[in-house]
Amino acid sequence: MTHEIEIESTLKETRKFKPDAAWARRANVPGQAAYKRMAKDAAKNPQRFWARMAKEHVSWFTPWKKVLDWKPPYAKWFIGGKTNVSYNCLDRHLEGENAWRKNKAALIWEGEPGDERVLTYGDLHREVCKFANVLKGLGVKKGDRVILYMPLVPELAIAMLSCTRIGAVHSIIFGGFAADSISDRVNDAQAKLIVTADGGWRRGSIVQLKGIVDEALEKTDCVEKVVVYKRTGHSVNMKDGRDLWWDDLMAEASADCKPAKLDSEAPLFILYTSGSTGKPKGILHTTGGYLTHVATTAKYIFDLKDEDTYWCTADIGWVTGHSYVVYGILANGATSLMYEGAPNWPDEERFWRIIDKYKVTVFYTAPTAIRTFMKWGDDHIKKYSLASLRLLGTVGEPINPEAWMWYRRVIGRNHCPIVDTYWQTETGGIMISPVPGGVTTTPGSATLPFPGISADILDHDGNPVGPNEGGFLAITKPWPGMLRGIYGDPERYVEQYWSKFPDKGIYFAGDGARRDKSGNFWVMGRVDDVMNVAGHRLSTMEVESALVSHPAVAEAAVVGRPDDIKGTAVVCFVTLEGGVEASDEMGVELRKHVGKEIGPVARPDEVRFTDALPKTRSGKIMRRLLRDIAAGRETSQDTTTLEDLSVLARLRESDEA
Ligand code: WT7
Repeated sequence: MTHEIEIESTLKETRKFKPDAAWARRANVPGQAAYKRMAKDAAKNPQRFWARMAKEHVSWFTPWKKVLDWKPPYAKWFIGGKTNVSYNCLDRHLEGENAWRKNKAALIWEGEPGDERVLTYGDLHREVCKFANVLKGLGVKKGDRVILYMPLVPELAIAMLSCTRIGAVHSIIFGGFAADSISDRVNDAQAKLIVTADGGWRRGSIVQLKGIVDEALEKTDCVEKVVVYKRTGHSVNMKDGRDLWWDDLMAEASADCKPAKLDSEAPLFILYTSGSTGKPKGILHTTGGYLTHVATTAKYIFDLKDEDTYWCTADIGWVTGHSYVVYGILANGATSLMYEGAPNWPDEERFWRIIDKYKVTVFYTAPTAIRTFMKWGDDHIKKYSLASLRLLGTVGEPINPEAWMWYRRVIGRNHCPIVDTYWQTETGGIMISPVPGGVTTTPGSATLPFPGISADILDHDGNPVGPNEGGFLAITKPWPGMLRGIYGDPERYVEQYWSKFPDKGIYFAGDGARRDKSGNFWVMGRVDDVMNVAGHRLSTMEVESALVSHPAVAEAAVVGRPDDIKGTAVVCFVTLEGGVEASDEMGVELRKHVGKEIGPVARPDEVRFTDALPKTRSGKIMRRLLRDIAAGRETSQDTTTLEDLSVLARLRESDEA
């Protein structure tokens, strides 16, 4: 078998940025020596390290009896411990020595049209207690699944925290997904309640949410009630006996609701993500370990202090929003800023205006956004002070050194450290990242595993590779925030994550990486059929099945092509049914069709028509070959198994046409 990893050996980045001494002195990990002590101590005994973190950063109703039970690939953390996530994010900031936080901002929110709201910890606690009572009143019980399909409004955070308060399991569906994506997830989770809104704002238009839920519910029969939050105020259809207004329910609800004492391993949420095969996977996270992981990493990587105004630009519908807009941030009693809309509404200065207006101190965004800002030009940023910023972060995909340097210079004004944080929906929290103040950074590298995380780069046989050799990025020891399974599909869990290096208890993340001589990790991207488009994971297979659901399409193959802004662009090779003519209009129609089936995130960048797809003799589509064609590269692949070589020639001709 050929090696799947292609090392981008052109990356010879050597610039280094040592933590500034004055900055480091004030940091939660105050300097390189402190970091080294922390990392060394954690490496000696990761379990003891995480137990200490769980004691320091999480409050427990009942202490755990055992730190870890590890029967690969099944882990349980903090066994016997009882806690509650909403208690940790809210109640404990209203008690004892933290009681002063009652009137501190928990959430600062700005809507796209410019409306503003601030919810203090006291406010958020009250709203969460009320909505938890609403959920109970609607018959939601511990362990029941609740779907949240909402715009980026405080009520989404309220609904999440309310679920955790009573032990219900939320599953958030990003507001950009279409009806079929919703019904698939609702059915898989067997949810009995959906919380949604009439709509949300995006670039000045209303995103229909309730209408899409109505359409999705035609294909499900488990949902009993739909709670609708009024955001846009446009008229929506309300089905008698099924649909209820959020405001009506809240008006009646009591603000008194004790947090349920939940087992450390009680399910917390399910979040669906794309895999290389089959339908989306419901990644399951549980309570105590997840909370320990996200609270600890948020505190040290974002260096959170009570004075901070922290802004993560991710939508809560992605894992970044779960862990680092809501749970990890509120668990620290910090202030989390949320902005509902698009970065270029009403103009391209929106983000910088928000930073100056609220004096944002810590800013966390995606490389694709950074590359977009670069394209918009520095002039739109220069007139803003951005002087409040003290720390910058990135997540979602590898950041190219050029974008990293631009981020440092133009946004960070050369004085903010950058934390490039590598992690996944499955890992729950950050895995590889600098700890600012303690770690020397280098543009394009996520640097070192967080203390307590054991990562390595392995070859096909599971042996570590040498410095600067490409290999598979693997996690070699269990960690507290790790996924506990794929909802309803235990076999897929084993197959997907633990079978690359069988029986070794080694997690394979799906990414290729190398490590340089100083031990820094360089993530090179996915090695499977998953595309990372603008920081979001899409499976080639899902886009293909959306394409073939169109009556004109006979067969389709989808691959990623490197793209300056989005990281990866979606390119589709399509063969049409006999009698259907290939045309530009058909291309437009198919792009729209995919957008409608899966959601705008998945809309293809390019559709190419071909009368045949290149296949091996056993009938497998040769994707790597298509990847080369899509990228306009001479193919480096072995074509000896290609069934019909003329297909390749014809695909290239169509490229030149
Ligand atoms: C995939 C996970 C983690 C929240 C957002 C995406 C890629 C993520 C980085 C980074 C290089 C990165 C990987 C990973 N990725 N962060 N800092 N450097 N690659 O979550 O949808 O679960 O996707 O995103 O390929 O496997 P996700």
